[in-house]
Amino acid sequence: MFVTDLDDSLPRREFCKAAVATGGVAALSACLDRFGGAEPIPTGDGPGAHPARQHAWNDVVRTDDDGNTLLPRHQLLLYCELPGDDPPTEAARERVGAALDALDDAFAWDSEGLLHSVAYSRAYFERYGAGPTGVDLPRPRPLADFETPTFDEQDLLVHLASDRPAALLAAEEALRGRRDRANGVSVPTLTDAVAVADRRTGFVGAGMPRDRADDLEGVPADNPVPEAAPLFMGFVAGFRKNQATEGYVTLDQGPFAGGTTKAVSNWRQRLADWYEEQSHDERVTELFSPQHAQQGLVEGVGGELGADSGIDAFLENLDEVAQEHGRVGHAQKAASANRDADGNVRLLRRHFESTDDGVASLHFPSLQRDIAAFEAVRQAMNGVDATAATPAVRQRVNNGILEYVFVRHRGYFLVPPRAKRALPRPDG
Ligand code: HEM
Repeated sequence: MFVTDLDDSLPRREFCKAAVATGGVAALSACLDRFGGAEPIPTGDGPGAHPARQHAWNDVVRTDDDGNTLLPRHQLLLYCELPGDDPPTEAARERVGAALDALDDAFAWDSEGLLHSVAYSRAYFERYGAGPTGVDLPRPRPLADFETPTFDEQDLLVHLASDRPAALLAAEEALRGRRDRANGVSVPTLTDAVAVADRRTGFVGAGMPRDRADDLEGVPADNPVPEAAPLFMGFVAGFRKNQATEGYVTLDQGPFAGGTTKAVSNWRQRLADWYEEQSHDERVTELFSPQHAQQGLVEGVGGELGADSGIDAFLENLDEVAQEHGRVGHAQKAASANRDADGNVRLLRRHFESTDDGVASLHFPSLQRDIAAFEAVRQAMNGVDATAATPAVRQRVNNGILEYVFVRHRGYFLVPPRAKRALPRPDG
């Protein structure tokens, strides 16, 4: 998409979508001209006043009537690299710290301002010859013998999120040195210290996938995505009781106490058969569970489930479920590995959709105390027991949503607490 595609006659939602996907100064100017003046973006209270946890988003984002969090509508992932192979210089550390501190001055810590975090890969810490102390942060690896993701081993990942496209773009332009200031605050150029290796964009919220699905690879031409769905697959996700709390995923000891680990994968979606060959009940079967379909628990996009998908009732004996129904659900497989011994949910999923490269895909950030928890849940999605139980369930057929989603990228990162977010050493 080019900046000239920012057609002034587009409705607001379309215009903002084009602006964030395009990026750049012209997109920002267009966005500010059209919306910036009318609604000022709230300024921040500075790094000292913003939460100690970079991942403390739940208390400051919108919620629905059931108390489920609604993530910022527009999101941006900047995968960045340090120069050379050596540990970063003190000057680079100061620059990264100053740039991020400036964002906390420029933008309120909420969806109307800007939520942001920076996270570091194992490869980054290996510049020092050691992993981060007390943190389970391996290099990414395949988690099924049928998947071939590209591994994201860039040094750091900057994640920006806002309901206001102008805030997101202003932050990006300033971090990348294309503007001196963001929201009235002078911002040191982040890219004087690190180079942006990859820029990925996304969005989440009811109506947004449908608005963006025309002419998109992966979604049938007649655009069957329901207006009420926040995701291309047509259902709501992330019910409050099916998510770990921020406290649960937070590291509680060691130099990175107050931080968390973040697995980020990107999944290409091919939804022709999902929509054209399947009934609503079959989609419910494969995304939630056969029992959800049988008991009619999900009408429409699933909003009536409230704060809990109800999946905990259907986690036992998945081999028998597979034998009886010839299918097994995505949520029930994943959830079967997503509880600790006390029944607590282990992962905090914060996924959002994307139209990058003209393809329907899902960015899947997941927060957890250790990467092993993410890997266990992802491996449970393979449904190995179900495939052994009946020939009806195969590696990618009748096995949750594996027939329709294909992993393209996977990276693992440590999100340090805010006070240690600037190019930390392995011992903090
Ligand atoms: C395009 C890809 C995906 C889509 C559209 C999707 C969508 C959904 C939906 C609609 C649910 C049921 C509602 C909920 O509890 O949120 C769900 C559950 C779940 N998904 Fe996914 N998902 C995708 C990929 C993944 C991946 C890659 C993982 C990796 C770990 C994952 C982990 C889970 C877990 C753990 C649950 C159950 C939550 C619980 O413990 O109750 N999902 N997903």
